[in-house]
Amino acid sequence: MQTSRSTQVAIVGAGPSGLLLGHVLGLAGIDTVVIERQSADHVAARIRAGVLEDATVSFLNEIGLGTRMQAEGLPHDGFSLIYEDTPPLRIDLKGLTGRSVMVYGQTEVTRDLMQARKASGAPTVYEASSVAIHDFESATPSVSYSLDGVSHQLHADFVIGCDGYHGVCRAAAKATGRLHEIERTYPFGWLGLLADVPPVSHELIYANHADGFYLCSMRSPTRSRYYLQCSLEDRVENWSDDRFWAELARRLGPDRASALSTGPSLEKSIAPLRSFVAEPLQFGRLFLAGDAGHIVPPTGAKGLNLAVADIRVLSEALITFYTKGSEDRLNGYSELALARIWKAERFSWWMTSLLHKFDGQTLFDRRIQAAEFNTLASSHALQTALAEAYLGIFD
Ligand code: APR
Ligand code: PHB
Repeated sequence: MQTSRSTQVAIVGAGPSGLLLGHVLGLAGIDTVVIERQSADHVAARIRAGVLEDATVSFLNEIGLGTRMQAEGLPHDGFSLIYEDTPPLRIDLKGLTGRSVMVYGQTEVTRDLMQARKASGAPTVYEASSVAIHDFESATPSVSYSLDGVSHQLHADFVIGCDGYHGVCRAAAKATGRLHEIERTYPFGWLGLLADVPPVSHELIYANHADGFYLCSMRSPTRSRYYLQCSLEDRVENWSDDRFWAELARRLGPDRASALSTGPSLEKSIAPLRSFVAEPLQFGRLFLAGDAGHIVPPTGAKGLNLAVADIRVLSEALITFYTKGSEDRLNGYSELALARIWKAERFSWWMTSLLHKFDGQTLFDRRIQAAEFNTLASSHALQTALAEAYLGIFD
Protein backbone atom coordinates (compact mmCIF):
# COMPACT_ATOMS: atom_id res chain seq x y z
CA MET A 1 0.00 0.00 0.00
CA GLN A 2 1.22 3.53 -0.76
CA THR A 3 -0.19 6.90 0.30
CA SER A 4 0.55 10.26 -1.24
CA ARG A 5 0.10 13.79 0.09
CA SER A 6 1.62 17.22 -0.36
CA THR A 7 2.87 20.17 1.64
CA GLN A 8 4.70 23.39 0.87
CA VAL A 9 8.00 22.63 2.61
CA ALA A 10 9.13 19.09 3.49
CA ILE A 11 11.65 19.10 6.34
CA VAL A 12 13.80 16.04 6.92
CA GLY A 13 14.93 15.77 10.56
CA ALA A 14 13.32 16.93 13.83
CA GLY A 15 16.46 18.21 15.56
CA PRO A 16 16.71 21.88 16.52
CA SER A 17 17.15 22.97 12.86
CA GLY A 18 14.11 21.16 11.49
CA LEU A 19 11.79 22.04 14.36
CA LEU A 20 12.89 25.68 14.36
CA LEU A 21 12.35 26.03 10.62
CA GLY A 22 8.92 24.41 10.95
CA HIS A 23 8.02 26.82 13.74
CA VAL A 24 9.10 30.00 11.91
CA LEU A 25 7.40 28.97 8.67
CA GLY A 26 4.27 28.04 10.62
CA LEU A 27 4.14 31.57 12.07
CA ALA A 28 4.14 32.87 8.48
CA GLY A 29 1.29 30.53 7.49
CA ILE A 30 3.50 28.20 5.44
CA ASP A 31 2.69 24.47 5.70
CA THR A 32 5.43 22.05 6.62
CA VAL A 33 5.73 18.34 7.35
CA VAL A 34 8.70 17.17 9.42
CA ILE A 35 9.94 13.61 8.81
CA GLU A 36 12.12 12.14 11.57
CA ARG A 37 13.60 8.67 11.77
CA GLN A 38 13.83 8.48 15.57
CA SER A 39 11.05 8.46 18.16
CA ALA A 40 9.91 11.68 19.85
CA ASP A 41 11.27 10.38 23.19
CA HIS A 42 14.67 9.77 21.65
CA VAL A 43 14.79 13.28 20.13
CA ALA A 44 13.73 14.88 23.43
CA ALA A 45 16.34 13.03 25.49
CA ARG A 46 19.47 13.88 23.47
CA ILE A 47 22.07 15.79 25.47
CA ARG A 48 24.12 18.35 23.61
CA ALA A 49 25.77 21.68 24.37
CA GLY A 50 24.25 24.55 26.29
CA VAL A 51 25.49 28.06 25.45
CA LEU A 52 23.25 30.40 23.45
CA GLU A 53 24.56 33.57 21.76
CA ASP A 54 22.46 36.63 22.47
CA ALA A 55 21.32 36.74 18.83
CA THR A 56 20.00 33.19 19.32
CA VAL A 57 18.26 34.28 22.52
CA SER A 58 16.70 37.32 20.79
CA PHE A 59 15.48 35.18 17.89
CA LEU A 60 13.89 32.59 20.20
CA ASN A 61 12.20 35.44 22.09
CA GLU A 62 10.96 37.06 18.85
CA ILE A 63 9.31 33.86 17.67
CA GLY A 64 7.58 33.23 20.98
CA LEU A 65 9.86 30.48 22.28
CA GLY A 66 11.60 32.40 25.06
CA THR A 67 9.32 31.97 28.07
CA ARG A 68 10.98 29.01 29.79
CA MET A 69 14.45 30.08 28.62
CA GLN A 70 13.98 33.50 30.26
CA ALA A 71 12.76 31.87 33.48
CA GLU A 72 15.27 29.02 33.72
CA GLY A 73 18.28 30.06 31.60
CA LEU A 74 21.38 31.47 33.26
CA PRO A 75 22.81 34.68 31.73
CA HIS A 76 26.62 34.55 31.81
CA ASP A 77 28.70 37.71 31.50
CA GLY A 78 32.04 35.94 31.13
CA PHE A 79 34.03 32.71 31.23
CA SER A 80 37.58 31.72 32.15
CA LEU A 81 40.47 30.20 30.24
CA ILE A 82 43.28 28.40 32.06
CA TYR A 83 46.63 27.36 30.59
CA GLU A 84 48.45 24.79 32.71
CA ASP A 85 49.42 26.48 35.99
CA THR A 86 48.83 30.10 35.00
CA PRO A 87 46.08 32.05 36.81
CA PRO A 88 42.67 31.95 35.10
CA LEU A 89 42.13 34.55 32.39
CA ARG A 90 38.57 35.81 32.65
CA ILE A 91 37.05 36.85 29.35
CA ASP A 92 34.69 39.62 30.40
CA LEU A 93 32.10 39.25 27.63
CA LYS A 94 29.87 41.97 29.04
CA GLY A 95 32.67 44.45 29.75
CA LEU A 96 34.32 43.89 26.37
CA THR A 97 31.19 43.91 24.18
CA GLY A 98 28.19 44.88 26.31
CA ARG A 99 26.64 41.47 25.60
CA SER A 100 26.20 38.15 27.41
CA VAL A 101 25.47 34.54 26.55
CA MET A 102 22.67 32.42 27.99
CA VAL A 103 23.37 29.00 29.46
CA TYR A 104 20.28 26.96 28.53
CA GLY A 105 20.63 23.35 27.42
CA GLN A 106 19.97 22.34 23.84
CA THR A 107 17.80 19.58 25.33
CA GLU A 108 15.54 22.30 26.75
CA VAL A 109 15.47 24.25 23.45
CA THR A 110 14.44 21.03 21.68
CA ARG A 111 11.69 20.35 24.21
CA ASP A 112 10.33 23.90 23.84
CA LEU A 113 10.34 23.46 20.05
CA MET A 114 8.63 20.06 20.23
CA GLN A 115 5.95 21.42 22.50
CA ALA A 116 5.33 24.44 20.26
CA ARG A 117 5.01 22.21 17.19
CA LYS A 118 2.62 19.89 18.96
CA ALA A 119 0.51 22.85 20.14
CA SER A 120 0.37 24.27 16.59
CA GLY A 121 -1.01 21.00 15.23
CA ALA A 122 1.61 20.94 12.44
CA PRO A 123 2.46 17.35 11.48
CA THR A 124 5.67 15.57 12.52
CA VAL A 125 6.19 11.98 11.44
CA TYR A 126 8.40 10.21 13.98
CA GLU A 127 9.97 6.76 13.50
CA ALA A 128 9.94 7.05 9.71
CA SER A 129 12.19 4.48 8.03
CA SER A 130 13.74 4.27 4.54
CA VAL A 131 13.62 8.06 4.18
CA ALA A 132 14.70 9.12 0.68
CA ILE A 133 14.47 12.34 -1.31
CA HIS A 134 13.65 12.57 -5.03
CA ASP A 135 13.66 15.01 -7.98
CA PHE A 136 15.05 17.88 -5.92
CA GLU A 137 16.60 19.47 -8.98
CA SER A 138 13.13 19.76 -10.54
CA ALA A 139 10.20 21.98 -9.49
CA THR A 140 8.42 18.92 -8.03
CA PRO A 141 10.62 17.32 -5.35
CA SER A 142 9.36 14.69 -2.95
CA VAL A 143 10.28 12.64 0.10
CA SER A 144 9.43 8.96 0.47
CA TYR A 145 9.42 7.00 3.72
CA SER A 146 7.88 4.01 5.43
CA LEU A 147 5.85 4.06 8.61
CA ASP A 148 4.48 0.92 10.24
CA GLY A 149 5.08 -1.01 7.04
CA VAL A 150 3.18 1.49 4.84
CA SER A 151 5.01 3.48 2.11
CA HIS A 152 4.36 7.22 1.93
CA GLN A 153 5.19 9.84 -0.68
CA LEU A 154 5.28 13.49 0.36
CA HIS A 155 5.27 16.05 -2.47
CA ALA A 156 6.56 19.55 -1.70
CA ASP A 157 7.78 22.79 -3.27
CA PHE A 158 11.07 22.45 -1.38
CA VAL A 159 12.95 19.80 0.62
CA ILE A 160 15.07 21.03 3.52
CA GLY A 161 17.79 18.69 4.78
CA CYS A 162 17.89 19.22 8.57
CA ASP A 163 18.87 15.61 9.14
CA GLY A 164 22.24 16.12 10.77
CA TYR A 165 25.69 14.86 9.89
CA HIS A 166 24.59 11.26 9.17
CA GLY A 167 21.41 12.15 7.26
CA VAL A 168 20.25 11.21 3.78
CA CYS A 169 19.92 14.70 2.28
CA ARG A 170 23.61 15.51 2.04
CA ALA A 171 24.24 12.00 0.73
CA ALA A 172 21.67 12.64 -2.03
CA ALA A 173 23.30 16.00 -2.81
CA LYS A 174 26.66 14.24 -3.03
CA ALA A 175 25.31 11.95 -5.73
CA THR A 176 25.00 15.01 -8.02
CA GLY A 177 28.81 15.18 -8.07
CA ARG A 178 28.68 18.90 -7.22
CA LEU A 179 29.09 18.71 -3.44
CA HIS A 180 32.44 19.47 -1.84
CA GLU A 181 33.09 18.15 1.65
CA ILE A 182 35.83 20.02 3.48
CA GLU A 183 36.94 18.41 6.71
CA ARG A 184 39.43 18.33 9.56
CA THR A 185 39.30 15.67 12.24
CA TYR A 186 41.10 15.94 15.57
CA PRO A 187 42.99 13.08 17.21
CA PHE A 188 40.97 13.15 20.43
CA GLY A 189 37.43 13.20 21.80
CA TRP A 190 35.48 14.68 24.71
CA LEU A 191 34.23 12.49 27.51
CA GLY A 192 31.17 14.27 28.95
CA LEU A 193 29.44 13.72 32.27
CA LEU A 194 26.16 15.21 33.50
CA ALA A 195 25.34 15.13 37.22
CA ASP A 196 22.94 16.71 39.67
CA VAL A 197 25.60 18.52 41.67
CA PRO A 198 26.22 22.29 41.96
CA PRO A 199 28.80 23.55 39.44
CA VAL A 200 32.39 23.97 40.66
CA SER A 201 32.36 27.55 39.34
CA HIS A 202 29.48 29.93 38.60
CA GLU A 203 31.02 30.64 35.17
CA LEU A 204 32.38 28.24 32.54
CA ILE A 205 36.05 27.23 32.74
CA TYR A 206 37.90 26.04 29.61
CA ALA A 207 41.35 24.67 30.46
CA ASN A 208 44.43 23.32 28.73
CA HIS A 209 46.04 21.01 31.29
CA ALA A 210 49.33 19.26 30.54
CA ASP A 211 47.36 15.98 30.44
CA GLY A 212 44.55 17.32 28.29
CA PHE A 213 41.66 19.77 28.00
CA TYR A 214 38.83 20.01 30.50
CA LEU A 215 35.64 22.09 30.56
CA CYS A 216 33.47 22.91 33.55
CA SER A 217 29.96 23.82 32.40
CA MET A 218 26.45 23.59 33.80
CA ARG A 219 22.77 23.34 33.05
CA SER A 220 21.43 24.98 36.22
CA PRO A 221 22.65 25.92 39.72
CA THR A 222 22.17 22.28 40.69
CA ARG A 223 23.17 20.44 37.51
CA SER A 224 26.75 20.33 36.19
CA ARG A 225 28.20 19.31 32.85
CA TYR A 226 31.91 18.44 32.71
CA TYR A 227 34.17 17.29 29.89
CA LEU A 228 37.62 15.71 29.77
CA GLN A 229 39.76 15.33 26.67
CA CYS A 230 40.17 11.61 26.00
CA SER A 231 41.62 9.33 23.36
CA LEU A 232 39.43 8.33 20.41
CA GLU A 233 40.08 4.69 21.28
CA ASP A 234 38.76 5.19 24.81
CA ARG A 235 35.40 3.70 25.80
CA VAL A 236 32.80 5.08 28.21
CA GLU A 237 32.81 1.69 29.97
CA ASN A 238 36.42 2.41 30.98
CA TRP A 239 35.27 5.45 32.93
CA SER A 240 33.50 4.74 36.20
CA ASP A 241 32.06 7.86 37.82
CA ASP A 242 34.80 7.64 40.46
CA ARG A 243 37.51 7.59 37.82
CA PHE A 244 35.97 10.59 36.04
CA TRP A 245 35.72 12.67 39.23
CA ALA A 246 39.24 11.75 40.30
CA GLU A 247 40.69 12.73 36.92
CA LEU A 248 38.72 15.99 36.82
CA ALA A 249 39.87 16.84 40.37
CA ARG A 250 43.47 16.11 39.39
CA ARG A 251 43.27 18.39 36.33
CA LEU A 252 41.51 21.13 38.35
CA GLY A 253 44.29 21.09 40.94
CA PRO A 254 43.80 21.09 44.72
CA ASP A 255 42.50 24.67 45.13
CA ARG A 256 39.77 24.50 42.51
CA ALA A 257 39.00 20.83 43.27
CA SER A 258 38.21 21.75 46.86
CA ALA A 259 35.00 23.38 45.52
CA LEU A 260 34.07 20.33 43.37
CA SER A 261 30.88 18.46 44.32
CA THR A 262 30.64 14.94 42.97
CA GLY A 263 27.72 12.55 42.60
CA PRO A 264 26.28 9.81 40.39
CA SER A 265 26.28 10.58 36.66
CA LEU A 266 22.98 11.03 34.81
CA GLU A 267 24.77 10.55 31.49
CA LYS A 268 28.27 9.88 30.21
CA SER A 269 29.35 9.77 26.59
CA ILE A 270 32.34 10.23 24.29
CA ALA A 271 32.10 12.50 21.24
CA PRO A 272 34.75 12.88 18.53
CA LEU A 273 35.75 16.39 17.45
CA ARG A 274 35.37 17.39 13.84
CA SER A 275 35.37 20.47 11.62
CA PHE A 276 33.30 19.93 8.47
CA VAL A 277 31.67 22.10 5.81
CA ALA A 278 29.60 21.05 2.79
CA GLU A 279 29.65 23.43 -0.18
CA PRO A 280 27.28 24.55 -1.58
CA LEU A 281 24.19 24.25 0.62
CA GLN A 282 21.68 24.41 -2.25
CA PHE A 283 20.97 21.82 -4.95
CA GLY A 284 17.97 23.06 -6.94
CA ARG A 285 15.10 22.83 -4.49
CA LEU A 286 17.08 21.01 -1.80
CA PHE A 287 18.67 23.11 0.94
CA LEU A 288 20.97 21.83 3.70
CA ALA A 289 20.87 23.46 7.15
CA GLY A 290 22.44 22.84 10.56
CA ASP A 291 24.59 19.76 11.13
CA ALA A 292 23.62 18.37 7.71
CA GLY A 293 25.74 21.14 6.20
CA HIS A 294 28.46 21.73 8.77
CA ILE A 295 29.99 20.49 12.01
CA VAL A 296 32.15 22.45 14.44
CA PRO A 297 34.16 21.01 17.32
CA PRO A 298 32.23 21.94 20.50
CA THR A 299 35.04 24.07 21.95
CA GLY A 300 33.52 27.31 20.68
CA ALA A 301 29.92 26.37 21.64
CA LYS A 302 28.80 27.23 18.10
CA GLY A 303 26.85 24.13 16.88
CA LEU A 304 23.34 25.11 17.87
CA ASN A 305 23.94 28.83 17.30
CA LEU A 306 25.08 28.21 13.73
CA ALA A 307 22.03 26.04 13.08
CA VAL A 308 19.80 28.87 14.32
CA ALA A 309 21.67 31.36 12.10
CA ASP A 310 21.09 29.10 9.05
CA ILE A 311 17.40 28.85 9.83
CA ARG A 312 17.03 32.61 10.22
CA VAL A 313 18.40 33.18 6.72
CA LEU A 314 16.60 30.24 5.12
CA SER A 315 13.22 30.97 6.73
CA GLU A 316 13.37 34.59 5.55
CA ALA A 317 14.22 33.41 2.04
CA LEU A 318 11.33 30.92 1.99
CA ILE A 319 8.90 33.51 3.35
CA THR A 320 10.04 35.96 0.64
CA PHE A 321 9.40 33.27 -1.97
CA TYR A 322 5.87 32.60 -0.72
CA THR A 323 4.93 36.25 -0.23
CA LYS A 324 6.68 37.89 -3.21
CA GLY A 325 7.33 35.00 -5.57
CA SER A 326 11.04 35.79 -5.77
CA GLU A 327 13.69 33.06 -5.56
CA ASP A 328 16.60 35.52 -5.29
CA ARG A 329 17.03 35.17 -1.55
CA LEU A 330 16.78 31.39 -1.73
CA ASN A 331 19.51 31.43 -4.35
CA GLY A 332 21.60 33.63 -2.04
CA TYR A 333 21.18 31.37 1.01
CA SER A 334 24.21 29.17 0.45
CA GLU A 335 26.68 32.02 0.02
CA LEU A 336 25.28 34.07 2.90
CA ALA A 337 25.14 31.14 5.33
CA LEU A 338 28.60 29.87 4.35
CA ALA A 339 30.21 33.25 5.05
CA ARG A 340 29.09 33.01 8.69
CA ILE A 341 29.76 29.26 8.90
CA TRP A 342 33.42 29.72 7.91
CA LYS A 343 33.93 32.43 10.53
CA ALA A 344 32.49 30.12 13.19
CA GLU A 345 34.62 27.26 11.83
CA ARG A 346 37.75 29.36 12.16
CA PHE A 347 36.91 30.34 15.72
CA SER A 348 36.03 26.77 16.78
CA TRP A 349 39.25 25.44 15.22
CA TRP A 350 41.27 28.16 16.96
CA MET A 351 39.73 27.49 20.40
CA THR A 352 40.32 23.77 19.86
CA SER A 353 43.94 24.33 18.83
CA LEU A 354 44.63 26.61 21.80
CA LEU A 355 43.06 24.42 24.46
CA HIS A 356 43.95 20.79 23.65
CA LYS A 357 46.92 18.56 24.07
CA PHE A 358 47.88 17.13 20.68
CA ASP A 359 49.67 13.78 20.36
CA GLY A 360 53.16 14.29 19.01
CA GLN A 361 53.15 17.92 20.16
CA THR A 362 56.76 19.07 20.46
CA LEU A 363 58.07 21.39 23.13
CA PHE A 364 58.05 24.09 20.46
CA ASP A 365 54.33 23.50 19.77
CA ARG A 366 53.58 23.63 23.49
CA ARG A 367 55.51 26.86 24.00
CA ILE A 368 53.69 28.44 21.04
CA GLN A 369 50.37 27.49 22.65
CA ALA A 370 51.54 29.08 25.92
CA ALA A 371 52.69 32.19 24.03
CA GLU A 372 49.32 32.41 22.26
CA PHE A 373 47.64 32.28 25.65
CA ASN A 374 49.97 34.88 27.16
CA THR A 375 49.50 37.19 24.17
CA LEU A 376 45.76 36.94 24.68
CA ALA A 377 46.12 37.60 28.40
CA SER A 378 47.97 40.87 27.77
CA SER A 379 45.89 42.16 24.85
CA HIS A 380 42.57 43.91 25.31
CA ALA A 381 42.14 43.88 21.51
CA LEU A 382 42.57 40.10 21.25
CA GLN A 383 40.23 39.50 24.18
CA THR A 384 37.63 41.69 22.48
CA ALA A 385 38.03 39.69 19.26
CA LEU A 386 37.63 36.44 21.22
CA ALA A 387 34.56 37.77 23.06
CA GLU A 388 32.99 38.90 19.77
CA ALA A 389 33.54 35.49 18.18
CA TYR A 390 32.23 33.64 21.25
CA LEU A 391 29.14 35.83 21.12
CA GLY A 392 28.78 35.20 17.37
CA ILE A 393 29.33 38.86 16.41
CA PHE A 394 30.67 38.06 12.94
CA ASP A 395 29.22 40.87 10.80
N1 APR B 1 15.56 10.64 8.01
C1 APR B 1 14.90 11.41 8.91
N2 APR B 1 15.53 12.00 9.95
C2 APR B 1 16.83 11.79 10.09
C3 APR B 1 17.56 10.98 9.19
C4 APR B 1 16.87 10.39 8.12
N3 APR B 1 17.49 9.61 7.24
N4 APR B 1 18.86 10.97 9.57
C5 APR B 1 18.93 11.72 10.68
N5 APR B 1 17.71 12.21 11.00
C6 APR B 1 17.35 13.05 12.14
C7 APR B 1 18.09 12.71 13.42
O1 APR B 1 17.49 11.60 14.09
C8 APR B 1 17.97 13.99 14.20
O2 APR B 1 16.80 14.03 14.99
O3 APR B 1 17.70 14.37 11.87
C9 APR B 1 17.87 15.07 13.11
C10 APR B 1 19.12 15.90 13.03
O4 APR B 1 19.27 16.61 14.24
P1 APR B 1 20.68 17.13 14.77
O5 APR B 1 21.71 16.11 14.52
O6 APR B 1 20.46 17.61 16.16
O7 APR B 1 21.02 18.35 13.78
P2 APR B 1 20.44 19.82 13.74
O8 APR B 1 18.98 19.86 13.96
O9 APR B 1 21.02 20.46 12.55
O10 APR B 1 21.04 20.45 15.07
C11 APR B 1 22.08 21.30 15.11
O11 APR B 1 22.19 20.30 17.26
O12 APR B 1 23.13 18.25 16.82
C12 APR B 1 23.33 19.45 17.42
O13 APR B 1 25.64 19.94 17.42
C13 APR B 1 24.44 20.14 16.76
O14 APR B 1 24.18 21.94 18.07
C14 APR B 1 23.96 21.48 16.78
C15 APR B 1 22.52 21.43 16.52
C1 PHB C 1 28.07 22.31 27.53
O1 PHB C 1 27.60 22.86 28.54
O2 PHB C 1 27.72 21.17 27.21
C2 PHB C 1 29.07 23.03 26.72
C3 PHB C 1 29.37 24.34 27.03
C4 PHB C 1 30.31 25.03 26.28
C5 PHB C 1 30.93 24.39 25.24
C6 PHB C 1 30.62 23.09 24.91
C7 PHB C 1 29.69 22.39 25.66
O3 PHB C 1 31.87 25.08 24.51
